[in-house]
Amino acid sequence: MSAGRVDGASGSIAAAPAAISEDSATPYAAFDHLATMVAVVQADGRCAFANAAFESGLGLSRRSVLRGVLFDWFVDGRAVADTVAAVARNDFSTSRFEGLLRRPGHAEALPVHVIVNQIDRSGEQVIVELVEIEQQTRQDREERVLDQVQANKELIRNLAHEIKNPLGGIRGAAQLLGMEVQSKDLTEYTQVIIHEADRLQALVDRLLAPHRKPHVVGDVNIHEVCERVRSLILAEFARGLRVERDYDASLPEFRGDREQLIQAVLNVAQNAAQALAERIAVGDARLTLRTRVARQVTIGKHRWRLALELHIEDNGPGVPQDIRDRIFYPLVSGREGGSGLGLTLAQTFVQQHQGAVEFESEPGHTIFKIVIPLP
Ligand SMILES: Nc1ncnc2c1ncn2[C@@H]1O[C@H](COP(=O)(O)OP(=O)(O)OP(=O)(O)O)[C@@H](O)[C@H]1O
Ligand SMILES: [Mg+2]
Repeated sequence: MSAGRVDGASGSIAAAPAAISEDSATPYAAFDHLATMVAVVQADGRCAFANAAFESGLGLSRRSVLRGVLFDWFVDGRAVADTVAAVARNDFSTSRFEGLLRRPGHAEALPVHVIVNQIDRSGEQVIVELVEIEQQTRQDREERVLDQVQANKELIRNLAHEIKNPLGGIRGAAQLLGMEVQSKDLTEYTQVIIHEADRLQALVDRLLAPHRKPHVVGDVNIHEVCERVRSLILAEFARGLRVERDYDASLPEFRGDREQLIQAVLNVAQNAAQALAERIAVGDARLTLRTRVARQVTIGKHRWRLALELHIEDNGPGVPQDIRDRIFYPLVSGREGGSGLGLTLAQTFVQQHQGAVEFESEPGHTIFKIVIPLP
């Protein structure tokens, strides 16, 4: 390897060269002690050296890294190539930018700060340092999404109120009109107005429901909640559906709003039962209610020592692919006649218990997980 001296290296790893001895096997060996990913590359992107952090960051062996070309591991490889070329040409001695690192075996690219430095003025090789963009940036993004969700909720609530107010007037007027008109044909019209106003009223009431504060009147036993939901589901789907339970009896009770939690679990279980329609017809539909204790759980920004997990599993066709990112948003439905509010309500009710609803889904196996922290 034709490695130059690194005395000229500048930037955030400038402190490292002091530790590099000229006569060690590779003059860059000391970079293995750094936590950031460091590679020495030729102007054409071939790696002459990669430190241990670089190897494990990419999840490749050093040999594979050394056979590879740096630019191929970036989503925007061309921008990296241009910068490396510019630094090698001595247009700048150092350059920094943000890039997205593609890692074999990971679906998501890793956001990194890329710092490219000259090693010496010959320009044969440059040193590339990658620093993972801290958790902070990711958290900022998550917070922005939460703000957006909050803003959407406000919008929907205001809109629901605006619809609710004139609705009473419309219904009342239609009723009066119905009493005045003699013709049966015409009263049919007023009946349609009254019926549709009622339907809209019910929808608006559901839109406004999440804004009700929880009534925490006592301790909740999650298995009582499950049993209640089980009997409601079995009453609604009398034939062809098996509802199994797999409870961890050691789960303690917790302070909460029992009615809200029954509603939340019912909404999720109802979705599962509705998704099972075809299997119910065949007779092999299965819905499972499973409870477990979970330890060291992070929900949003909080870490809890102990939490309960309730899994609502079904062997239906799975959540439709095109609405997966949005099913917790209001008015998103993949079902004929669905109003798309069931999961929004479930999520809100569970959040009011500091918990969260998540799901994993593939054809034949869908799990909705309700996680609630325990004291
Ligand atoms: N277990 C599940 N299997 C397959 N799809 C599901 C499952 N749970 C939810 N979904 C999908 O998510 C969509 C949104 O569910 P949500 O409960 O919010 O609304 P909805 O059931 O359509 O209407 P509503 O519950 O308000 O009557 C459903 O329409 C369905 O397409
Ligand atoms: Mg539903």
